Amino acid sequence: MKIAIIGATGMVGKVMLKVLEERNFPISELIPVASERSVGKSIEYKGSPYKVVGINDAISMKPKIALFSAGGDTSLKWAPKFAEAGTTVIDNSSAFRMDRDKKLVVPEINANLLTKKDKIITNPNCSTIQLVLALSPLHNKYKMKRVVVSTYQSVSGTGVKAVQQLENEINGIEGEMAYPHPIGRNALPHCDVFEDNGYTKEEMKLAREPQKILDDRTFSVTATAVRIPTSGGHSESVNVQFENDFNLQEVRELLAETKGVIVQDNPSTNTYPMPILAHGKDAVFVGRIRRDETQPNTLNMWIVSDNLRKGAATNTVQIAEHLYVNRLL
Ligand code: A2P
Repeated sequence: MKIAIIGATGMVGKVMLKVLEERNFPISELIPVASERSVGKSIEYKGSPYKVVGINDAISMKPKIALFSAGGDTSLKWAPKFAEAGTTVIDNSSAFRMDRDKKLVVPEINANLLTKKDKIITNPNCSTIQLVLALSPLHNKYKMKRVVVSTYQSVSGTGVKAVQQLENEINGIEGEMAYPHPIGRNALPHCDVFEDNGYTKEEMKLAREPQKILDDRTFSVTATAVRIPTSGGHSESVNVQFENDFNLQEVRELLAETKGVIVQDNPSTNTYPMPILAHGKDAVFVGRIRRDETQPNTLNMWIVSDNLRKGAATNTVQIAEHLYVNRLL
């Protein structure tokens, strides 16, 4: 299959190439795409060099699939053009996520909704993916009413400049700032831009996307998103109130049985999810599972996942695999 990677030189694009290679995705022709300044440069896939092409040229090469991770503006401008040319786009940006006619997909939850007609398919926000994957089996069983989530997000979610800012600060080098404040030895309650309601865009993604993915507007999510100086993955402290009561052992079993979720929860051995353990892996790790003793039917837990893998690249590639296996291209 002919596949284009839009943003192949970027942080997520590079991980996409890695994941495609690891999963041996059936590629007949790989088309790496980046901005004009990278055209002609070489990237490596399965040990061979591939020349980066411009986005306009990539459309005329008529790929079957285009995986987009080059920012919202690039998606807004170019994804519809690929779709018109017959390419199925899987978009990592937030440009189309809340469009009524575009599906927002976490394959383990709702890939069954996809049809041949879906030409622009959207990949949820990284923090949303790990949250909904863990919440989905619990929602099905106990019905969620309200979720309060606080995130502890990796600098890799911001991009190369932010990773460099942290490196520079660790090494005492003055350099370009990706954030309005130092990130080393700090915590910034500020992920993405602020909206008029006082929440950040990241917090509003966490509030809205789970309802769309789980196709249910009867529960609500409120979020505080915080950037911390880690690079291995995002962590989330999650408080969930259900309509029905639960049994903690059953909660653990439901999570352990969920595809893509791994329970790491044993206080006696100091076992709990951490970004350092999740880094480079595809699973969503859940631990610190306990009852909120201040309120009925309410659970606390801690969810960690590698934001560049399941939070972005792996989820995108899984959608592509679903389309391929089910002949939806
Ligand atoms: P380039 O490396 O040439 O700038 P990140 O999210 O890590 O910053 O990466 C963004 C990715 O999107 C990079 O691969 C970048 O290419 C690519 N990109 C940015 N603007 C465009 C554009 N207009 N067309 C195609 N690719 C783009």
